[in-house]
Amino acid sequence: MTPATQLLINASQVVTCAGPARARSGAEQSDAAVRVGEGVAIDAAGRVLAVDTDAALRAAHPTASLIDCEQGVLTPGFVDSHTHAIFGRARYEEQEMRAAGIGYLEIAKRGGGIHSSVRDLRTRSADELVALATARLHRIAAHGTTTLEVKSGYGLSLESELTTLRVIRRLAAELPLRLVPTFLGAHEVPLDYREAPRDRAQYIALVTGEMIPAVAAEGLARFADVFCEPGVYTADESRRILTAARDAGLGIKLHADELENGAAAELAAELRATSADHLAAISEQGIAALAASGTVATLLPGTMLFLGRPKQAPARALIGAGVPVALASDFNPGTSPTVSLPLILTLGVSQLKLSVGEAFVAATVNGAAALGLAGELGQLAPGFHADLALFDVRDHREIPYWYGDNRCVRTWVGGRPAAPIFAASKRLSHPGFGG
Ligand code: NIG
Ligand code: FE
Repeated sequence: MTPATQLLINASQVVTCAGPARARSGAEQSDAAVRVGEGVAIDAAGRVLAVDTDAALRAAHPTASLIDCEQGVLTPGFVDSHTHAIFGRARYEEQEMRAAGIGYLEIAKRGGGIHSSVRDLRTRSADELVALATARLHRIAAHGTTTLEVKSGYGLSLESELTTLRVIRRLAAELPLRLVPTFLGAHEVPLDYREAPRDRAQYIALVTGEMIPAVAAEGLARFADVFCEPGVYTADESRRILTAARDAGLGIKLHADELENGAAAELAAELRATSADHLAAISEQGIAALAASGTVATLLPGTMLFLGRPKQAPARALIGAGVPVALASDFNPGTSPTVSLPLILTLGVSQLKLSVGEAFVAATVNGAAALGLAGELGQLAPGFHADLALFDVRDHREIPYWYGDNRCVRTWVGGRPAAPIFAASKRLSHPGFGG
């Protein structure tokens, strides 16, 4: 038998999420496979070897080093499958504008919103973007996330989009986190393509004809995404962009039916996208289309909460129809500046009406499935990456319960300590620009 090098013992519960290595839907999604009085054995390759009683693990692996979990709860590290983590300044001024009744798309029409982040990002060097993202990713990791998808999309020019994706590549090499890069050159139509002599068709041609080939040639992204929404990109434009991305070898994601219905979920299903994200305005037909295609529905309840919108995505109807549901943060400066996946679990239960088990599976196994990684991470079972989070609670239901608090005390990625990271480093110092 392979020897374990580390044993995580003395945990009160282990949320294993063990089960099929694929997206979970329907009743399957509700079983987080919680084990009481057991621990986790990790091998030298950074994989989970076994989950068993402490006594059995110690007897089988007498030479392994022991890590005392002090009666905390171990979970798979969270897989946050939707973030826009590369940006410059924060956009706190828009929160008050929305409170005063100016809507998200109206702010964008006035040149704010995504446009304001684009103007800002284009003035920054790659080093500055790395420093800003490092501090923010530290905070995200400190809340229990071990894998994150990170989108480009605040560059919206060939050079700035490539710079953003190269920044993600640098972060992936430097940080003890798993990062999955997504090209989102079609996050908006940039302002410089809205007036003659340029137009939006020319920008779409730039995305399909130059950006996607350059991104693919440099291997800078695993997925492509489009903000398909009335007033942003139409379904036809999104289809053109995503088809070009697929032809270039990229996987497909879609910002779909976020604010208003535009039959974007149906498009995601037609394209067999890996995930369709947001879905607060999905229709009955959209739900049926996703159920038939096997596309993961990635729900982002923090966004609807922060935008002050009355309607969350119909999570129960999606699960009832057999659509696998993932939960993610949508971390971004405009609509969801939260670094906390535990808070997203709270919203998953209290707003989306998921059970705690469904919410855990949504933030682990189904998050991994939304990144095409369900075969290697998202559960604590033999052979999976030893990516874990330890929480200072006695029962896993306390993780969504103590909302707004951070009970995460440690994380591991591939068996190696990941958070707290940089605790002794001056890089933790606040780099300004609103954190
Ligand atoms: O997922 N919807 C588009 N993109 C982001 C918001 C980006 C921004 O406002 O900066 C979202 O909500
Ligand atoms: Fe988003």
